[in-house]
Amino acid sequence: MNSFRIVGPLIRLLDAEKAHTFTLWCLRKGLVPSQRSVDDSVLQTSIWGRNFSNPLGLAAGFDKNAEVVGPMLSQGFGFTEVGSITPKAQPGNPKPRIFRLSEDKAVINRMGFNNNGVEPAIENLTALRKQSLNGLLGVNLGKNKDTAVALDDYKKGAKQLCRFADYIVINVSSPNTPGLRALQDKQELEVLIAGVQQTLREEMGDKAPPLVLKIAPDLTAEDKEDIAAVALELALDGLTITNTTIERPDSLKSAHRSEGGGLSGAPLFEASTKVLSDMYQLTEGKIPLIGVGGISSGEQAYQKIRAGASLIQLYSALVYFGPPRVTQILEDLSGLLKRDGFNSVSEAVGADHL
Ligand code: FNR
Repeated sequence: MNSFRIVGPLIRLLDAEKAHTFTLWCLRKGLVPSQRSVDDSVLQTSIWGRNFSNPLGLAAGFDKNAEVVGPMLSQGFGFTEVGSITPKAQPGNPKPRIFRLSEDKAVINRMGFNNNGVEPAIENLTALRKQSLNGLLGVNLGKNKDTAVALDDYKKGAKQLCRFADYIVINVSSPNTPGLRALQDKQELEVLIAGVQQTLREEMGDKAPPLVLKIAPDLTAEDKEDIAAVALELALDGLTITNTTIERPDSLKSAHRSEGGGLSGAPLFEASTKVLSDMYQLTEGKIPLIGVGGISSGEQAYQKIRAGASLIQLYSALVYFGPPRVTQILEDLSGLLKRDGFNSVSEAVGADHL
């Protein structure tokens, strides 16, 4: 039985952040039942020499402190991304700072990288790496609000957390840390990526995890060209496309539509898929892309893959549809791939560009 049909509406009676805190508590206590895993060879995929049982991951922001990696992988995800983690703990913005836009199946958040910092994350990740994990683990890095030189924070994060990660993400696209998104400018980006690559090489040499950059949906044509050029020039391993948007589409109906922060969920799908498609073309399909933004169905997961995503992620759909949606998306995605004659996810990546 899909118990989320009963539990979901009760959780949604709580304000959004309390609901999230309660959900994390339930996951930590083992109170959330595992979902059936979709064991289907058409969904298996290999990126960066790493094997994913399926291409659907949990996006950053849900598990900021790496507290529920195992329980979230048990919901059927092929991988999960923890963070954003900043070197020092920080409280984030004043509450309230997450809002459900239920009529729009969307979320606005202005959390501001609230997290416990690197040290507790290391403790959690050390314990995790002693177990065998049922999926892959990405570590997403942010910068502290009061750090003047952003590169210092990303280097610190990379140095301390790289050995736990199957891949590392530099997040320069949250709208809730002043000045962060300016790091997407060409020169800033070159310095940042080259600097973190150097740290990873120094720490782990050939065994360093792949480095991925997470970008915003709110970019000009020139921004996108610049990012693609830097990514190719520096042989970046991947791009995550996209973070939340600062745009507010006219279609939004919910009372909270004017809250400040980043918008995610259904209204982000089209814009984030367009950036994904543009970046696939600009990078000539040479760099693995992680497609995220507004996925809540197998059809949408499939559209992201056809637009150029090798992996996909979601967050906001969990708020409205709960963990059972993960299995449903994977089953539907598998059906769509087979319907169109694809033997694997990788065959369908970028199919819309052929
Ligand atoms: C996020 N997201 C996010 N991303 C990131 O890189 N670091 C972070 O700390 C957070 N925090 C965060 C908090 C909350 C409450 C939400 C809803 C989202 C962005 C997230 O990973 C994803 O890119 C967007 O939410 C778009 O995907 P969905 O939610 O539309 O599936």
